[in-house]
Amino acid sequence: MWWEIPNHLSVINNKLYIANISAEELAKRFGTPIYVYNGNRVLDKYRIFYRTLKRYLSQIIRIHYSMKANNNPKLLEILKSEGSYLDCVSPEEVEYAIANGYAPERILFTGVSVSYEDLKKVLSLGVRINADSISQIKKISKIRKDIPISLRIDPGMPGLGHNWRTITAGKEAHNVPIKFSISIEQIDNAVKLAKEENLKIVGLHMHVGSNWKTEEELNEFLSAARILVQQAKKLEDTLGYKLEFINFGGGPGIRYSEKEQDFPLEKYSIGISEILKELNYSIDNLAFEPGRYIVGDSGILLVKVTDIKERYGDLIVGVDSGFNHLIRPVLYGSYHEIVNCNNVESENKKLITIAGNLCETGDVFAVRREMPLPNENDILAILNAGAYGYSMASRYNMRKLPKEIVIYKSRLTIYEEKFNRKVIMEEIV
Ligand SMILES: Cc1ncc(COP(=O)(O)O)c(C=O)c1O
Repeated sequence: MWWEIPNHLSVINNKLYIANISAEELAKRFGTPIYVYNGNRVLDKYRIFYRTLKRYLSQIIRIHYSMKANNNPKLLEILKSEGSYLDCVSPEEVEYAIANGYAPERILFTGVSVSYEDLKKVLSLGVRINADSISQIKKISKIRKDIPISLRIDPGMPGLGHNWRTITAGKEAHNVPIKFSISIEQIDNAVKLAKEENLKIVGLHMHVGSNWKTEEELNEFLSAARILVQQAKKLEDTLGYKLEFINFGGGPGIRYSEKEQDFPLEKYSIGISEILKELNYSIDNLAFEPGRYIVGDSGILLVKVTDIKERYGDLIVGVDSGFNHLIRPVLYGSYHEIVNCNNVESENKKLITIAGNLCETGDVFAVRREMPLPNENDILAILNAGAYGYSMASRYNMRKLPKEIVIYKSRLTIYEEKFNRKVIMEEIV
């Protein structure tokens, strides 16, 4: 199958194996719905990303793994031991990262619509802020002076993404004004304010959007990267000193379907290296913020078939999960490969709609997709669910969050999260 990856996803006797362990056995032993992550694959992807960049770039490379993609503690631990830095977007993420052993100096906070209280919290934890607005710079300066900050800027050209909701640069997407970053025409004002307030600008950052991977998209990213470098040079002239880092953000995509291609990582690395050479720009540190690329294909959501019905000629296969556990198909219209764990390939295929157990019509993982008809109690594997799966999960319909298993170096670690609403105060009015 196009999605097979040695030692990660394989098919033996028509059954699915994850890290050489039977997917069906994992599901039967620990129950469904359950996310299974292959920690070895996460480590491989991190190394591929880091080493490919290193092959073409002589600077120090800082990979700030974007923990919003997947904050499982074991995966954070694996990446930490490999030397990863982090991209965090909320005080809660920062606290969680520190509690999981990340030194504050390894964390860059890039928030949007950030409150004074958020900034106070993040700064009290010793973490650097990547300011996304002039208002944020003003708020930071009320809390602390004489601290290093970086600026998240917009390259002034349209951003990129698999869906308009994940495009984070440019003026607008799908007629919705983009809320992120300091627009290119406001950079001078932001720099002036930071100088007046004694905040030392040490870095420049951009993040143009999430899940892009075609050659055309890469070329657009590289045009934006060129603008970032030009802006960094201009900024250094104004400031009179060298920046510590420039940060190209995240966004490199993964292959979700057979018709898509893998991310052109080599061309990405070469493209960045050529821009730096052509613009004759030297800097000590280059930062990157991949999330999906590192964890996306490592995760599989295992669900059980609970109900099969025929309705006006359609076959509806109900499962024990829904968009409360994996929202990507509903929110973005995303395609995920879905495989029957004990019958991966079969001649006998039908058009099937795979539906979740939430009371919403839109709660479907696949619509009229050609695949082998499963039986009740069969286990289905929803592939490429490692990024923006569990981290976007909710308790809608009061359903539980799914469990998680991490397979790493022949060890299984199982997680379960319980939410309880607690009374914190009662008062007579
Ligand atoms: C500032 C920033 N950096 C990095 C990322 C990670 O993006 P991806 O998972 O597409 O690499 C995001 C995601 O939205 C982001 O907002």
